[in-house]
Amino acid sequence: MNNDILHQAYDPEQFRQQGHQLVDRLADYLAQMQQGSTLAVLPWQSPEDKLHAWQADFDNSPQPTINQFFDQVLMESIHIHHPRYVGHQVATPAPAAALAGLLSAFLNNGMAVYEMGPVSSAIERLVMKQIAAKVGYDSLGGGIMTSGGTLANLTALLAARQAKTNGEAWQKGTRGQLALMVSEEAHYCVDRAVKIMGWGETGMIRVPVNDYYQIRTDQLTPYFQQARKEGKKVIAVVASACSTSTGSYDNLDEIARFCQQYDLWMHVDGAHGAAAAFSDKYRSQVAGLSQADSITLDFHKMLMTPALTTGLLFKNERLSFDTFSQRASYLLNEDEEDWSNSGKRTVECTKRMMSIQVYALLRTYGWKLWDENITRLYDLANNFASMIQQHPAIELAITPQANIICFRYAPFGVPMAQLNTLNAQIRQQVIEEGKFYIVQTQLKGEVFLRVTLMNPFTTEAMLEELLNDVRQKGNALNC
Ligand SMILES: Cc1ncc(COP(=O)(O)O)c(C=O)c1O
Repeated sequence: MNNDILHQAYDPEQFRQQGHQLVDRLADYLAQMQQGSTLAVLPWQSPEDKLHAWQADFDNSPQPTINQFFDQVLMESIHIHHPRYVGHQVATPAPAAALAGLLSAFLNNGMAVYEMGPVSSAIERLVMKQIAAKVGYDSLGGGIMTSGGTLANLTALLAARQAKTNGEAWQKGTRGQLALMVSEEAHYCVDRAVKIMGWGETGMIRVPVNDYYQIRTDQLTPYFQQARKEGKKVIAVVASACSTSTGSYDNLDEIARFCQQYDLWMHVDGAHGAAAAFSDKYRSQVAGLSQADSITLDFHKMLMTPALTTGLLFKNERLSFDTFSQRASYLLNEDEEDWSNSGKRTVECTKRMMSIQVYALLRTYGWKLWDENITRLYDLANNFASMIQQHPAIELAITPQANIICFRYAPFGVPMAQLNTLNAQIRQQVIEEGKFYIVQTQLKGEVFLRVTLMNPFTTEAMLEELLNDVRQKGNALNC
């Protein structure tokens, strides 16, 4: 058998050389980004043009020049490490966490069972217990790691369903119309989880929000009573901490009181904002968090790890073993509530060694790293909001509660429909020009520009530049 190609693919010396080159390239790239690179944050190309270009590359393959390929990927990607990247809620990965990600990819310890990931299983247990304590849970608290906030929310709701149907839902299915209550501003993945569970649109009870886009807790009881009248069995409330569009924190203490009164499962979708629990200055944003039955927390948002790295915490971890009571005799023993075979409690069978990315940061820098990052990002958001308020033609949607700020170009006298078009055009011009990357959202049907401050090296001066840019583009489009 001619196995030269197999030897080449696993050649240690080639790996060493290519790996060193790649890390050197990434280190130079990071330095360039931190020095305020003039590269476009998003090198814009239409999806069709991009596809054609890569098709041409593929048609030319195989090509032995892997570092050339890496370089091309680097140059054509959106530059998350750029301090002018102020768009979606994606972490600026810290190098130590990214290196742990490389180690995970290389070792490929799949983790469904302890034997297939002894280190990462133990570390996952350790990290989840530590974080459970940090959010205020007692020794019954703990959790698992899973591939993203979307999956964590679904997993939490499956646990809620099992707990609130006397442990029958998984084996026997559900009877009657189950439902949950959630703010109309919740992330769309909650709606998706409800539909995946087969509860349909009637299973989603959307509670209106107040002027700060927080769930109206005065409406919880009337919506609950109405649902009961309609024959629904409400089993849970999902609180947003914080919401995606505006970064608004629901009132967790009041939701907890309501859930206790009616024996409902309280889940906190803290994919983005539960991280405030690590900031001494901003911890009060999540007051009441420890009363939740479960909490989703994405490390790949404000906690500086590459995606996907998510924690799902349970106040009473024992309940997480009931979610999937499923026999897979070659892998899992159904009777044991052991922590070490993580596949018993996750949707995934195989998963990445995500815990080592979190631990790499904690072990190297301690809790202080997250405290400083979150405090910096939230402080910066407050400063940015003050700057917006000083620009007469620019309107701030609400005072930020997190590192998400919504604003728009809104000079006096321009009709609403025109403002919507203008702001959508401004955003498109901004991203195509490449000096900044920002996104947009709709608040009560109106278009707003949206910034999420994810990079601690974004400065007030850069944000002032962004505001001037928005105003100039708006004025030019509006004349
Ligand atoms: C509040 C909230 N929940 C859930 C998600 C989904 O998380 P993921 O992208 O990790 O699946 C997001 C993502 O932005 C979010 O903001």
